[in-house]
Amino acid sequence: MAEKPSESKKVAIIGSGLIGQNWAMIFAGAGYQPCLFDVDPGQLERALQGTRKHLSEYETKGFLRGSGTANEQADKITGTSSLSECLDGAFYVQECVPENIDLKKKVFAEMDGLVGDKTILASSSSCLCASMIVDGLKHQHNAIVAHPINPPYFVPLVEIVPAPFTSPEVTSSVRKLMEDIGQSPITLRQECLGFALNRIQYACINECWNMYKTGLLSAEDIDKVCTDGLGLRYAFIGPLETMHLNANGIKDYCERYAQGAVNVQKETFQQIPVLYDTETAQKIQEEWTNSLPLDTLPERRVWRDEMLAKLSKLKIEDSKSEKSG
Ligand SMILES: NC(=O)c1ccc[n+]([C@@H]2O[C@H](COP(=O)([O-])OP(=O)(O)OC[C@H]3O[C@@H](n4cnc5c(N)ncnc54)[C@H](O)[C@@H]3O)[C@@H](O)[C@H]2O)c1
Repeated sequence: MAEKPSESKKVAIIGSGLIGQNWAMIFAGAGYQPCLFDVDPGQLERALQGTRKHLSEYETKGFLRGSGTANEQADKITGTSSLSECLDGAFYVQECVPENIDLKKKVFAEMDGLVGDKTILASSSSCLCASMIVDGLKHQHNAIVAHPINPPYFVPLVEIVPAPFTSPEVTSSVRKLMEDIGQSPITLRQECLGFALNRIQYACINECWNMYKTGLLSAEDIDKVCTDGLGLRYAFIGPLETMHLNANGIKDYCERYAQGAVNVQKETFQQIPVLYDTETAQKIQEEWTNSLPLDTLPERRVWRDEMLAKLSKLKIEDSKSEKSG
C-alpha cells in the first residue's frame, strides 16, 4: 500500500458499535473524515443511520459538538465492509472491536499487513495493553492504546497508554490529535493494568461495597455520597487540587489531616475483595430494582447521557469564558 500523505484527514474506525459510533461523531465534528468498518454489514448500516440520528438529536438539544450542522457532520461519516478500503488513505486508526484479546490480536495483525509505515494504530481497549495485542508486529512502534470513557461524546477523558516499544512521536501525536478533536487526554508513562480511571474507580467501588456489606448505609445513600457530594466537587477539581484548596496547600493539608486519614483507613478499610460476592450483589440489586427496574435501564441511560451532556456543555462554556476573561 502506498505511503499516505500527511495532510490526510481520513480516520479509520474499526468496529461500528457503541464506541466506534462515538469516535465517528467526535472526529466528524472536528472536521475529520471518519470511515467505519465492521464485519457485520447490518450493524454498519445501523451505525451510519444511528450516528446521523444522534447528531441531529444533539443539534436539536444544543449538545452538538464541533463545527458545521448535524447533517454536514453526518455527511463526513462513511462506512465500508472492506478493511483495506477503510484503511486506505487513513493517517489514524481507532480500533473498537469487542474486548477479546484473540480478536484484537487478529484484527491488528490483519491491519499490520495493510497499513503504511506512518499510520498510527490506536486501540480503544479498556483493559488490554498494546503490548498484549501487537507485540512482534511490523508496525508495533505505531501502536498505542487510546482508551475513551463511556459515553465519549460527553465525557472527554482519553487515557493514552503507550507500550514500551511505542515511538514517543506516536504518543505525542495521539495526544495532540485528541486535543484537536476536543477530547481531554492524559498520558500514562508506562503500561499498567486498569490504566488510571479504573484504578480510582475500583478503589471507590471497593469502599462502597464494604460500607454496604457491613450494613453502614443503604445502596441509595452510598450513591448519594458521590452524586450530591464528592461527584459534584470532582466534576471541577480533582482529589489532589481539593487537598491543595482545603488547606494552605497540599503540605499543610497533610500536616493537618494525614494522621486522621491514616486512622480512618486502618480502622475501616477492608481486604480488597477478590471477587465481588454474589450475595451482596443480589442485595444491592434488590434495593436498586425497587426504584430502577431492569426494563427501565435503557431510559435511565438516555437520561444519564443527557445530564452528562448538560454538564459537559457547562464545563466547555466555563472554560471558554475563563479564556476570554
Ligand atoms: N462500552 C464501553 O463502555 C467502553 C468504554 C471504553 C472503551 N470500550 C472499549 O471499546 C471497544 C469496543 O467496545 P463497544 O462497547 O463499542 O463494543 P460493541 O460490542 O458495541 O461494538 C463492537 C463492534 O465490533 C464489531 N466487530 C466484531 N469483530 C470485528 C472485526 N473483526 N472487525 C471489525 N469489527 C468487528 C461488532 O460487529 C460490533 O459492531 C472494546 O475494546 C471496549 O472495551 C468500551
